[in-house]
Amino acid sequence: DSEPDLSGLSVLITAGGTREPLDPVRYLGNRSSGKQGVALAQTAAARGAAVTLVAAHLEVPPPAGVEVVAVETALEMQRAVAERAGASDVVVMAAAVADFRPAEYADSKIKKSHDGPGDDSAPQIELVRNPDILAGVVADREGGDTPFVVGFAAETGDSTGDVLALGRAKLARKGCDLLVVNEVGVGITFGQDSSTVHLLRPGHEQVTVGPAPKAAVAHAIWDLVRSETATS
Ligand code: C5P
Repeated sequence: DSEPDLSGLSVLITAGGTREPLDPVRYLGNRSSGKQGVALAQTAAARGAAVTLVAAHLEVPPPAGVEVVAVETALEMQRAVAERAGASDVVVMAAAVADFRPAEYADSKIKKSHDGPGDDSAPQIELVRNPDILAGVVADREGGDTPFVVGFAAETGDSTGDVLALGRAKLARKGCDLLVVNEVGVGITFGQDSSTVHLLRPGHEQVTVGPAPKAAVAHAIWDLVRSETATS
């Protein structure tokens, strides 16, 4: 059992992959399993934090002892986060949020056309940008320093150096306090039980954790969050 060293902290965690519906039977989705976000929720609760998990599609059950707010789309997640972020000490955005959603939702199933022999036409699906939920939480702080905001970045690159450079640029662009950088690809990190991450903070050297089980990665993140929020 862990020390309750996060007791008194209110944490909001997003997890899983959003699903952006096209019609009643289809959606645009992604490979996020939600395992890292669920591990963060489980470990924070075990360390005494009051945890709210804003859960998009998860392939693992949410942990016991946390409040779960189920959402499907990025817009639903944005609303759930905006309602709660201001009252949270720490916001961790571990969800894989779709950057784009279909511009239109079709109320009935999109059909193949049969306008004659040899008709193999296909619909064009227009996409629109989703809001950046993390950037919104940072903007809503209006220069204040609460909540402490943790972002995730799934980056591909030819080398760890490339991935770290992309991570540093993203940390600056997003304005969050800690960025957890993963190297991803099919079968790497997404859906796996362990990962290697680089923890980036403004003005600090990176801390690399792993390869380690996602619960160990989560504990390392909470150790850093705790040290950063204890002094502020
Ligand atoms: O820019 P990118 O998608 O790589 O940033 C990833 C981080 O931003 C993650 O923490 C993710 O949860 C968050 N994000 C978000 N809203 C979006 C896209 C990403 O909060 N629309």
